[in-house]
Amino acid sequence: MFTTELLRQLDKITGQYEQKQAALLPVLHAVQEKEGLISPESEQDVSRYLGVPVVHVHEAVSFYHLFHQTKKGKCHFSVCQTTSCALLGGEDIIGHIKDRLGIKPGETTPDGKFSLSVVECLGACELAPMMQCNKEYRGFLNKKKINELIDQNK
Ligand code: FES
Repeated sequence: MFTTELLRQLDKITGQYEQKQAALLPVLHAVQEKEGLISPESEQDVSRYLGVPVVHVHEAVSFYHLFHQTKKGKCHFSVCQTTSCALLGGEDIIGHIKDRLGIKPGETTPDGKFSLSVVECLGACELAPMMQCNKEYRGFLNKKKINELIDQNK
């Protein structure tokens, strides 16, 4: 069940759309921002709130990598594995993060500080190899930059 504060925020978002259902993605972003993930219960709440089938909500949540069905670490690395990034060392970046943090893609460190995901093109190929660190894009990655990022967020 959404809090009164979140409901007010969602009403403000949906008020910008002619049809409430068209606000599915911004509503999901707002819910995730507040709750840290989109749980099955949240999918039900969003379904009721927007008046769309819950399967429609689940399809969006499971399709877009920006939505999380499990809680992510404070610092979530989403490393691009698509062609431009792969050609410029993306696999080494993923391997280095795995070695440094002791986790595989899809996992979170036991202290809840870091999560690692491997994603498809983030539309910033000119920054290859790149990743998203929470909402921020980080480009021209190398092991030194990864080490600095990890050390800053420990
Ligand atoms: S291939 Fe990595 S951002 Fe496009």
